[in-house]
Amino acid sequence: MRKVHVKSFGCQMNVYDSHRMADTLAPEGYVETQLPAEADLIILNTCHIREKAVDKVYSEIGRMRELKDAAEIEGRRMLIAVAGCVAQAEGEEIIRRTDSVDVVVGSQNYHKLPGLIARALDGEKIVDTEFPLEDKFDALAQPSREAIAKRGISAFVTVQEGCDKFCTFCVVPYTRGAEISRPSPKIIADVERLAANGVREISLIGQNVNAYHGADENGRSVTLGALMRRIANVPGIARLRYMTSHPRDMLSSVCDNLIAAHGDLPALMPYVHLPVQAGSDRILAAMNRKHTRREYMTAIDRLRAARPDIAFTSDFIVGFPGETEGDFRETLALAEDVNFATAYTFMYSARPGTPAAALEDQVPEAEKYERLQRLQELITRQWRAFNASFVGKTMEILVEKPGKLTGQLVGRSPYLQSVHVMAKPELIGTIVPVAITDVGSNTLFGELAETAPAPELVSSGA
Ligand code: SAH
Ligand code: SF4
Ligand code: F3S
Repeated sequence: MRKVHVKSFGCQMNVYDSHRMADTLAPEGYVETQLPAEADLIILNTCHIREKAVDKVYSEIGRMRELKDAAEIEGRRMLIAVAGCVAQAEGEEIIRRTDSVDVVVGSQNYHKLPGLIARALDGEKIVDTEFPLEDKFDALAQPSREAIAKRGISAFVTVQEGCDKFCTFCVVPYTRGAEISRPSPKIIADVERLAANGVREISLIGQNVNAYHGADENGRSVTLGALMRRIANVPGIARLRYMTSHPRDMLSSVCDNLIAAHGDLPALMPYVHLPVQAGSDRILAAMNRKHTRREYMTAIDRLRAARPDIAFTSDFIVGFPGETEGDFRETLALAEDVNFATAYTFMYSARPGTPAAALEDQVPEAEKYERLQRLQELITRQWRAFNASFVGKTMEILVEKPGKLTGQLVGRSPYLQSVHVMAKPELIGTIVPVAITDVGSNTLFGELAETAPAPELVSSGA
C-alpha cells in the first residue's frame, strides 16, 4: 500500500480534479493521506490565476522538498508532482527552477498519472502538458463508495471545462483550453452514482457553466436548464447548484430555460454566482467582458423576476489598467444597486501572456489596495445585513454533519450559510426547517422549527 497526499490551491474545479486524481491512483494501490510527511507521492494541484497564487506554489514546493529530503534520510522514496494550472502554464520551467519536482502534469492529463508516476519511479523527470483530444473524464477512474461517503453529502460534478471568452486579464483560456461540454448522459450517470451512495446536493461546475451545450443520447445539444431538470429527477438529489456563470451567456436565449428553471424547480437553489468584475462600461470593454453594466443588471432582473428570493454573489477586480477613481466609483455604485449576499474581491494581478499585462497605464499597488479596502468594506456591510435578515425566519437546512458541541449538527441553508442546530444525528442527510435565532461571525444558529415525523409513520402511510 502506498500513500498519496493531494493538496488543492485553486477553484472548485481544482478541488474536483484533486479528488479525481486520487480516484485514478486508488486502483494502483494508493490510499489518500492528509499528512504529507508520510506520503510516497505528493501532488500539488496548483492555481495560476494571480501572481500570489503562483508564489504560494513555489514556497510550498520548498516545504515539500524538506519532507522529501527527510524521507530520503529514512531510506524512503518520495515523489513530488505538480499538477494544475501552474503546471499547464509553466511546464518545464518548474523542473528547471526546482530539481525536487519529479512530475509536471497539465490540467488535461490526469488520466495518465499512473503511467507518468511509474516512469518517474524509474528515474525519469516527466513533463506532460499536452491538450489531448480524447475525453479525459472517461479515462479518469470513478470514486469508490468509501471515497464518496468520506467527501460528504454535497458533491461537485464538472459539466463543462475551458473558456473561449478571453477576458484580457485572465489565464484560464490558456491553462484550461477551449470550452468543452461533457455529454449529458455521462453527467447523469455520474450524478446517479453519487446519489446512490448518499449524496444529496450536486453542484455542477465549469468555468462558464451556463454556456453548457453538451450532447444528449441523440446527439442533440442540451442547455444547462434542461440538464438541471433531468438531474432534479434523479432519486435522492434534493439540491442543485451551478457555478461559475458568465453574464453574457445569461442574456442569451441558451439560458432562457435555466432562468425559467429557477422559477419552477424547487431543488435549484436561489443562490447565483455571477461575476461582474467592474461597474464601468469603459473598463468592462477593456476587459473584453462582452457586456455592459446595464446588461449585467438586466441579467440580475431576469433572474429575480423568475425567483424573487435569489441572492447574488460576484467577483470583482479593482485596479485594472486604466481604472480611474471615477470608474471605481461605478463599481461601488453597481455593488450598491445589486446588493450582493457576498463577493470575492481581488486586486488586478498582471499575468504574463495576457493582453492586459501589456497595457501601459497600470494602476499603482497602493491605489489598488486602497480601492480593495473600500470595496471590501461595502461588501462586508452587505454580507452582514444579508445574514442578519434571516434572524426570526425559518429556513430549510440540509443537515451535513455533527457540530463541535455534543448534540449539535451543522447544515447549510439555501444560501450556503452554515447553520448550527441541536438535533439528533439521524437527521444528517435530510432537509429540516430551522428557526434562525442568532448570527455569529460566519454562522447562523437556530432551533428545529418542528419535529420531523418518525420514519415509521412516513412509511406506514395512510
Ligand atoms: N470563469 C469565471 C471566473 C474565473 S477566475 C468568470 O468568468 O468570471 C475567478 C476570478 O478570479 C475571476 O472572476 C476574477 O475576478 C479573478 N481574476 C481572474 N484573473 C485575475 C487577474 N489577472 N487579477 C486579479 N483577479 C483575477
Ligand atoms: Fe477567465 Fe473571462 Fe473565461 Fe472567466 S470568462 S474564465 S474570467 S477568460
Ligand atoms: Fe486557478 Fe486554474 Fe481554477 S488558474 S482558478 S485553478 S482554473
